Amino acid sequence: MNRNRIQIMHGVNLDQIGRRDPAHYGGITFRQLEQAIDSFARELGLDARFFQSNSEGDFVEHLHRVRDVADAILINAGAWSHYSRAIGDALELSALPAVEVHLSDVMAREEWRHVSVLADSCIATVMGKGVDGYRDALGTLKAELTE
Ligand code: DQA
Repeated sequence: MNRNRIQIMHGVNLDQIGRRDPAHYGGITFRQLEQAIDSFARELGLDARFFQSNSEGDFVEHLHRVRDVADAILINAGAWSHYSRAIGDALELSALPAVEVHLSDVMAREEWRHVSVLADSCIATVMGKGVDGYRDALGTLKAELTE
């Protein structure tokens, strides 16, 4: 398979998950999360590339360039997922297959988290499965790329 480059896009506050509520985020550190994703990707023969930012502008600009460095996107944009139309537009503009992931079950949390402004530009959404959700998302992207 030659199309195997997956851009992992982590948004606002994801770098702090080790300090956030373990009931939602499992107590894992961001470094551990990225290591787990990297090993899931390797198992699937995928090449994971990582980007995280707390700056919405930097996140949008990375999405503008992402077609040059990746074949598909796995995105957990944190709270931006629920309201950033700018990120939604930039994701659409990338025109790459994308899967949205949330560690926590956002549908079981506050109502403002029930909306995703990214979902329309994604082929699937995975939520509430913790770190294992990233494995599912990578499997979906692999299937999409090998079609
Ligand atoms: C999150 C869910 C969002 O509602 C929240 O703002 C986050 C993390 C998740 O992975 O469960 O920062 O995207």
